[in-house]
Amino acid sequence: MYKHKVLITEDQIIRRVEELALELNKQYGEKTLDVVCVLKGATIFMADLIRKLNMPVRTHFVQVSTYGTGSESSGTVSLHFSTVADLLDRDVILLEDILDTGITLDYLLKHLKEKKPRSIQVCVLLDKPTKRKVNLQPHFRGFEIPDEFVIGYGLDYQELGRNLRFIAALDPSEYKP
Ligand code: XMP
Ligand code: MG
Repeated sequence: MYKHKVLITEDQIIRRVEELALELNKQYGEKTLDVVCVLKGATIFMADLIRKLNMPVRTHFVQVSTYGTGSESSGTVSLHFSTVADLLDRDVILLEDILDTGITLDYLLKHLKEKKPRSIQVCVLLDKPTKRKVNLQPHFRGFEIPDEFVIGYGLDYQELGRNLRFIAALDPSEYKP
């Protein structure tokens, strides 16, 4: 595995995910929730979060393509894959692993709003607010992190690191030139 430094431990993640679920349970009550998971990074977060939710939950998956596979987000996003059929009058949570520049979620929010949900809110596990290029605030957020490239708990560097049980900063020496 890559050289890394643990930023958020497994215990901290478990506790914070429970708190987020409490907030969602409080805000949505008995309403059925349509949770849209952004592949692949948010899968572990989704699996843990929805099992702490008390209301009926539907799950959907979307995947976007962004140019480049390195550690920097690029500015061009397109929809690569989606299981979303109908969101008309539904209460939707868009679930993402990390909010960085905001370009990905901005694109997906616009795309999903075209399906005319009753409401749509963004829930992210991690937020790197210093890198924002689009004015976007998550409604629910697990942790704010510094501007470091992170892996673990679903997040990858070149497809590895997703199965780590904690979140870690990748050592800069691992970045490909
Ligand atoms: P934007 O910039 O569009 O980025 O908000 C969101 C997407 O960029 C990826 N991303 C990361 N992935 N560690 C990762 O594994 C990171 O530190 C990181 N920062 C951004 C991620 O795929 C997210 O969906
Ligand atoms: Mg990735």
